[in-house]
Amino acid sequence: MTNASTDNQKLYEGKAKIIYATDDPEVLITYFKDDATAFNAQKKGQITNKGVVNCKITTHLYGLLAQKGVQTHLLETISDREMRVKRVAIVPLEVVVRNIAAGSLCKQTGLPLGTLLEPSLVEFYYKNDDLGDPLLTRDRIFAMDLASAQQLDQLVAQAQQVNQVLSEFFISCGITLVDFKLEFGVDQAGQLLLADEISPDTCRLWDANEADEKKRVMDKDRFRQDLGDVAEGYQTVLSRILTQLAQPS
Ligand code: TMP
Repeated sequence: MTNASTDNQKLYEGKAKIIYATDDPEVLITYFKDDATAFNAQKKGQITNKGVVNCKITTHLYGLLAQKGVQTHLLETISDREMRVKRVAIVPLEVVVRNIAAGSLCKQTGLPLGTLLEPSLVEFYYKNDDLGDPLLTRDRIFAMDLASAQQLDQLVAQAQQVNQVLSEFFISCGITLVDFKLEFGVDQAGQLLLADEISPDTCRLWDANEADEKKRVMDKDRFRQDLGDVAEGYQTVLSRILTQLAQPS
């Protein structure tokens, strides 16, 4: 099942999602696929039911964030794999927050995997597949005219708030939020909104009760590093979120 919203015009197909138009020019539909890619699409595969699981996880995490005052592009989740979202102009920056050293940070700096980062790092990468999403500096962002100083400060503040809310929530699920990537967009009114998705595709999530370096991985690193049972990792993240949300507060 990969073709939903077939009545609607397809506007864009990305690596993990498809964007469709609706009758309302200010509203789009995002469809979550099972396709998975890594290393700038050099590695390709499918993760069974990933679209459904990521759509649900994103829905719940966006709901939590909205309760804490972080505005997102989500209007309504309308099926297992589809969301109605506000049309936004995506800021071409990937905002990465790191609480613990992993991934490209270890590769580029030599910091050992698992090093606690206090304060957390907030980094900007240029959203450009042809260039391999390079790490940017503030000065490069200004030189490239990608954002103003005020917008960057706003992005950092929002990313830090998201980190605070999600780190706290995930730890209550027995999961350590190691790092994650956010995307933002600007709506017609000029408002900065969180967009895209928050899921095991875009976060590193470690089982807080598991010390083994490989067994603790619950996210897309299972796919990137061929650790096995990828779909099960994603499903466990969703199950833990649902269990935690069902607890009386
Ligand atoms: P990195 O360590 O590879 O730079 O990744 C940092 C975080 O960003 C990690 O949680 C995975 C996420 N990420 C994406 O969501 N999309 C990407 O294209 C990349 C490279 C990383």
